[in-house]
Amino acid sequence: MPFTIAIDGPAASGKGTIARALADRFGFGHLDTGLLYRAVGALGGDPIVAARGLSAGDLQRDDLRTAAAGQAASRVAAIPEVRAALVDFQRRYARTEPGAVLDGRDIGTVICPDAELKLYITASDEIRARRRALELGADESVILGELRERDARDAARDVAPMRPADDAVLIDTSALSIDEAVELAVGLAQKAG
Ligand code: C5P
Repeated sequence: MPFTIAIDGPAASGKGTIARALADRFGFGHLDTGLLYRAVGALGGDPIVAARGLSAGDLQRDDLRTAAAGQAASRVAAIPEVRAALVDFQRRYARTEPGAVLDGRDIGTVICPDAELKLYITASDEIRARRRALELGADESVILGELRERDARDAARDVAPMRPADDAVLIDTSALSIDEAVELAVGLAQKAG
């Protein structure tokens, strides 16, 4: 039986970094599910058609990490048919042997409700904006507004809103270094395994 780790949380909370580190540590696959929505948004046209026809090559585009791509992703992610078209791929990935780490917004609640470990990663708005601004080389106050708008949309949508699963472990990374956050998550995974 593969071991699945579900990681959710708002933008720039540190969930991607923690997910990659856990996958490296345990030799698991890692799927950044935000990339699926970013690719659908970036393809343009009818997002339902784009989601149904999404291919591995679409995830390799180098313009998927921008703030504009994040906003486009969050708009198409509110469309139920878009989400439905992406469920099977994510669930199949979650069953990769010997295990898989998936990060996103609805992994613990919708995609992998039976995951062996669920984490919900948060950090204060200001700290998340600072991290993302450094990463993108962008203005912190503009990024802060962008993150808040995106989080509000992700949390308020009717289908698969961003929220912690009832049995998720909450980790606030505001006052943690990357190493501290990773070690905390590794310890939780070892305990769950
Ligand atoms: O994680 P990332 O910032 O790349 O996600 C981009 C957008 O994709 C999010 O703001 C959210 O709207 C959407 N998303 C989602 N469900 C996921 C992953 C991402 O709705 N599992």
